[in-house]
Formats: sequence, C-alpha cells, structure tokens
Amino acid sequence: MLKKILVTGGAGFLGSHLCEKLVNSGHDVVCADNFFTGSKQNITPLLGNPNFEVLRHDVTFPLYVEVEQIYNLACPASPVHYQFDPVQTTKTSVHGAINMLGLAKRTKARILQASTSEVYGDPEVHPQREDYLGRVNPIGPRSCYDEGKRCAETLFFDYYRQHQLDIKVVRIFNTYGPRMHPNDGRVVSNFIVQALRNEGITIYGDGQQTRSFCYVDDLIDGMIRMMESEKGYCGPVNLGNPGNFTMLQLAEKILALTHSKSKLVFKPLPQDDPRQRQPDITLARDKLGWSPTVGLEDGLRETIRYFRGIIG
Ligand SMILES: NC(=O)c1ccc[n+]([C@@H]2O[C@H](COP(=O)([O-])OP(=O)(O)OC[C@H]3O[C@@H](n4cnc5c(N)ncnc54)[C@H](O)[C@@H]3O)[C@@H](O)[C@H]2O)c1
Repeated sequence: MLKKILVTGGAGFLGSHLCEKLVNSGHDVVCADNFFTGSKQNITPLLGNPNFEVLRHDVTFPLYVEVEQIYNLACPASPVHYQFDPVQTTKTSVHGAINMLGLAKRTKARILQASTSEVYGDPEVHPQREDYLGRVNPIGPRSCYDEGKRCAETLFFDYYRQHQLDIKVVRIFNTYGPRMHPNDGRVVSNFIVQALRNEGITIYGDGQQTRSFCYVDDLIDGMIRMMESEKGYCGPVNLGNPGNFTMLQLAEKILALTHSKSKLVFKPLPQDDPRQRQPDITLARDKLGWSPTVGLEDGLRETIRYFRGIIG
C-alpha cells in the first residue's frame, strides 16, 4: 500500500537513503530538515520527483502535515556536530520527539524513532541486548546526545501507554556508507578521508577499542522492516552489524583498499569514549527477519568510491 510518509532529518546521511528507498518504492515522501548537518546534494537525485517534497523546518517547532507514517531521524549524529550546540541537540531530541509525537497523535500516523546504541553508554555487558539498561554519564560532553535520545525513547513509550500511539523504536549502531559527512569525525569517514589524502590516520587510545560497522543499505532495510512490523510491536530493537573490529583492523583495511601511503598517528582517548560496542541482533532476526548482508570490505569499497568522488 502506497503511503504519505514524513522523514525528519531526511537530508542527512541516513535520511537521504531512506527517502530514496521510500520514493523508489512509490511512496509519497515529505522530507523535513533544517540542513544543520544535512545537505541539498544528498537529496539532489530526488528533487525533480513528483513523489518527493522538501520542507526547511526545525523539529523543535511544531509541524502540521497530513501523513500516515513518520520516521523521526532529525538530530545531528556525530560528536563534533552534536557537541557544537549541546542545548540545541537536547532540544532537537526532546522537543523534536514531543512535536513529532503530537503530529502522530493528531494524524493517527505510525511513528518510528531513530534511537541509538548510545543509550547503552559505556556498557558493562557485551554484546548489548535491548533489555540492558545502560551506563550513561548524565553530565558529560556526550550527555546532550545520549540523554536526549534516552528521553526521546521515554516520550515514545509514554505516548504509547498514555495515548495508545502506534510507535516503533530502533536503536541504531554505527552505520557507514556514501553521503556520510566528510568532516564529522566519525571513524569510517575520518580514516577514509585521511587515507585518500595520504594524511596521518588518527587512532584514539591504543586502537584496541572495538566497534561494529553496519552498511547503510542494510540499516535502511531494517528500519523499513520495523516500520512495517505488526501493530503493537514497539521495540526497542537493535539494528547494527554484530561483526566486531578494532580501530587498528579498520585502519588497515582502509589503507589496503585505498592503496594509501598514510601512517598511523596515536592520540589520547576522548572522555566517555566506550571501549567496546556490539549489537545483539537476536530480536531483529526473530521479529523482523532482518540481519545485515553487506560485508565490511564491500561496504568500504562503496564508501571509498563516494569519498573519492567528493574529495577528488
Ligand atoms: N549514522 C549512525 O551511525 C547513527 C547511529 C545511531 C543513531 N543514528 C541516528 O540516526 C539519525 C540520522 O543520523 P545520520 O547519521 O543520518 O546523521 P546526519 O547528521 O547526517 O543527519 C541528521 C539530519 O537531521 C537534521 N537535523 C538536525 N537537527 C535538526 C532539527 N532541529 N530540525 C530538523 N532537522 C534537523 C540534519 O540537518 C541532518 O540532515 C539521527 O537521529 C541519529 O541520532 C545514526
């Protein structure tokens, strides 16, 4: 069934891929974005399409559009961007959630929240399952994002209990791919840009901390499956790739794939940087029939091709 769908943060990295997939499936898509970290280039391929509309809008203000589904992605996702104006980051998560939930209540739309593995903070259990309650610092430099996202989850579940809203919550783990911001300080984009420029590859700490990396196409598929899951199933559901790599392993793969002359440069670990982060995706497999299909090297090749195109 073709639907009218709102994607907040639709001009960002994940949002633009989501809009593209939804439009290509025939849906009528409204993208709302304030272009803080998103860009028009990300949505250029969609601009002439009659099933696609863009609104310059900040989700901290109410929005009135008639839609049947809402994907709430608006929020800067990388530390450099979310720490640039931490008060605005919390407002985006919290006021943004209230405004979008208000819209869902009025239009009776189904609404999905793009939450994050950061709700687990610096976890004591590995891999993280959805019933792990997290270990988050409420007063650190990352708190605006982590606590903002936790509060947004609280709001989603309160609207579900109090107003019977049709909610869905996914917790997204590290995702990478074409259209990542080249200067956002996230590890995959950082390493690729540094490697392509033959600059030093910055490793924080000893490089033994591990991360999982999910390719964007897999992630978008998981998000859409969650949105289309049976009514009454709210999550939260982890979406991520359980494959685990150290920063050193990632750097080596990128150096090999780019044929770069870059050397590794070691710097101190930033405050509250988790040592390890790995999703348990049993629930996503059981409830959504979802698991990632793109291996790290294949995903990196596509991402490197994109970055070569934009940085020359
Ligand atoms: N990429 C990841 O690895 C990852 C991991 C966990 C969670 N997420 C979540 O997924 C969502 C999308 O992340 P992304 O990686 O595409 O980041 P991104 O920064 O590329 O996209 C965020 C988009 O939201 C827009 N935005 C920010 N504040 C806004 C506001 N107040 N009003 C309207 N638009 C606003 C930005 O301009 C941008 O287009 C975010 O909510 C993020 O927290 C992403």
